[in-house]
Amino acid sequence: MASTPDPRLKEIMAALTRHLHEFAREVDLTPEEWLEGIKFLTAVGQKCTAYRQEFILLSDTLGLSSLVNALHDRRATEAGTKSSLVGPFYRQDSPVMKLGDTIVTKPTNGQEICIYGRVTDSADRGVANASVQIWQPDETGNYDLQKHDPSEMDLRGTFFTDSQGFFYLRTIAPLGYMIPMDGPVGDMIRAQKRHGYRPAHIHFIIAAAGYREVVTALYLRGDEHIESDTVFGVTASLVTDIRSKDPDSPIPNLPSIRFDFQLAAAQAVGSGRVGADPSQITKRAAG
Ligand code: BEZ
Ligand code: FE
Repeated sequence: MASTPDPRLKEIMAALTRHLHEFAREVDLTPEEWLEGIKFLTAVGQKCTAYRQEFILLSDTLGLSSLVNALHDRRATEAGTKSSLVGPFYRQDSPVMKLGDTIVTKPTNGQEICIYGRVTDSADRGVANASVQIWQPDETGNYDLQKHDPSEMDLRGTFFTDSQGFFYLRTIAPLGYMIPMDGPVGDMIRAQKRHGYRPAHIHFIIAAAGYREVVTALYLRGDEHIESDTVFGVTASLVTDIRSKDPDSPIPNLPSIRFDFQLAAAQAVGSGRVGADPSQITKRAAG
């Protein structure tokens, strides 16, 4: 490592190599096991496409993504909503919608709900014109990417808060689902006798000029997998309820979720996204 000019790269590679060697010593790794590991990582890479990122799924299922999120949150200098996983189904450029619009674009049997709240700063002042990106699975636990031509978007949208920081939209209640299990990560989960489920959740990315972007998700209380998320994404402060009657809701005749997102002041560097639109990663790798 001594010749590495970039000091951060030098630090990361030195620690990674030290821990990798220590791992091999600790388990007394055999040549056959080493080759199994190489085959597994090769299969993980081969499973990646513009629509699928198996390496991120591996990081998620080993708890690394959530750990990196927690470290990111710890670096914030002001209070803010906790991070959660981006997951493999995020798409950039979801359609921009008006407050009150529905993100449902296909026929559905889902229970219609309203999601509303405020985006605030750490002093509880509303943040105007903050972008609220939302994406979620449907009432059967499937994302648009798993059901339609991947170019067709459903159950995702981008909203902007009003002058007081408020947002509201219509959607349907999601169902929890099993992570993609048809690749090497699924083989690993089965070998470990894990269940592979995520509890029902709705993803968000909240951003505004001058603030740290928050990449997070809201989890529905009562889901049977809320305590055993395969990818360790659940944090107590992100668990919410669908309330059947809420007089404060902007659409009071619908069941609703209220959640206020808090943004901490921006720091010089760093994004909170432990994950990305897979097509962007493929593009970067190729280019
Ligand atoms: C998801 O929330 O969409 C997800 C996150 C991590 C792994 C698989 C799915
Ligand atoms: Fe998800």
